Amino acid sequence: MPGSSTVLVTGGAGFIGSHTCVELLDHGHDVVIVDNYSNSSPGAVERIAKVAGRAPVAVYEADLLDRRALAAVFADHSFDAVIHFAARKAVGESVEQPVEYYDTNVGGTTALLRAMHDHGVHRLVFSSSCSVYGNADKVPLTEGDPADPTNPYATSKWLCEQIVADVCRRLPGFSALALRYFNPVGAHPSGLLGEVPRGVPNNVMPYLAQVAAGRLDRLRVFGDDHATPDGTGVRDYLHVMDVAEGHRVALEHLDDTRGMTVFNLGTGRGTSVLELVAAFRRACGKPIPYEITGRRPGDVAALVADPTAVTRAWNWTATRDLTAMAEDAWRFQELNPSGYPD
Ligand code: UD1
Repeated sequence: MPGSSTVLVTGGAGFIGSHTCVELLDHGHDVVIVDNYSNSSPGAVERIAKVAGRAPVAVYEADLLDRRALAAVFADHSFDAVIHFAARKAVGESVEQPVEYYDTNVGGTTALLRAMHDHGVHRLVFSSSCSVYGNADKVPLTEGDPADPTNPYATSKWLCEQIVADVCRRLPGFSALALRYFNPVGAHPSGLLGEVPRGVPNNVMPYLAQVAAGRLDRLRVFGDDHATPDGTGVRDYLHVMDVAEGHRVALEHLDDTRGMTVFNLGTGRGTSVLELVAAFRRACGKPIPYEITGRRPGDVAALVADPTAVTRAWNWTATRDLTAMAEDAWRFQELNPSGYPD
C-alpha cells in the first residue's frame, strides 16, 4: 500500500503503539488512535504530536469491547488499514486472570474484526508475540516452528492469529500480517517517548532503568544456571523504533499476498541478562547492583528470532544495536522519572 493512508491504531498510546504512531506520522500517514488508557495515558498522545510535529487526526478513549463506540469510530473515518496493538500483556497476570485476558485480547480482536467487516476495511497488521513459541528449545526460531503457548497471554495471541487467519481464508479481500516480536526495549531517541510501566516493572529493561535511577535497589537476575553461555537467560532484544519501522513497512506490504502471513521481528542476536546489565551500566555510567536469585517460574533459557523471512520479503532488518537500546531507555528514564505528566 504505497502512498499515504489513514490508519486506525488500537492501543496507540501504549509503548509500541505510540512509537509506531510517530513512525507513521513521520512517513506521511494519517493516524487515528483508539485506546482505553488501561495501561497508558493521554500524556503519551501529547508526546506523539510533539515528537512527530503533527497530531493524530483523532483520538478516542474507548474500549474495543464497547461495540457502539467502535462502530462510531469507523463511521467517522475511512480507514485504509488497522494496526491492532490494544491488549493486555503481562504474562504473570494472565495466569491469575485468564478470563480477563481472553475477554480483552480475543474478544477485543473479534470486536475489531466485526467493525472492520461491517465498514469494509480489510487490511490488518496484528501485534503478536514470540511467546506463542512457548518453551521452544531451539535457537533461533523460524515462523515454521511449532507454536506451544504456555500461559493465557501467549495462548490469547495464538488464538487471535488463528482467528485472523481463518477470517482471511474465508472472506476474500481480507489480508493480514501478524508480527511476532521478540523483546522490544528502548525508547524514541528524543527522550520524549518510552515505556511507562505501571507499578514495579515485570520486564528486565524498565526494571534496570529504575535501578539505575535509584528507584529500585537492585536487579534480581532470575537464575544463572540456564543452559546459556553465562547461565543467565538469553533474549533477542530489539529497539522499539525498529519495531515501529517494521509496522510501517508492514503497512506498505499488506497487499503483497492474500490471506495472513506471519513474520518474526527480531535481530537474530541473543543477549544474556548479564550482557544487558553491562550495556546499561555503560549507557548510564553508574554501577547497577544486582543479585542472582532463583529462576522465575515459566522462564525459558533462550529465545532468539530467525528474522530471515521478513528481511527477504521486505528488506526490513533491525538496525539499532544494544548500545542504542540502553542509551535511549536511560535517556527516557532520566528525562521522565515519573513517566508522562498527566
Ligand atoms: C515477556 C514475554 C514476551 C513479552 C515480553 C514483554 C513470554 C515467554 N515472554 O518476555 O512475550 O513480549 O515479556 O512484555 O511470554 N529477568 C531478570 N530479572 C527481572 C526481569 C527479567 O533476570 O527482574 C530476566 C528473565 O528471566 C529473562 C530476561 O530477563 O531471562 C527477559 O525477561 P522479560 O524482560 O520479563 O521478558 P520475557 O520474559 O522474555
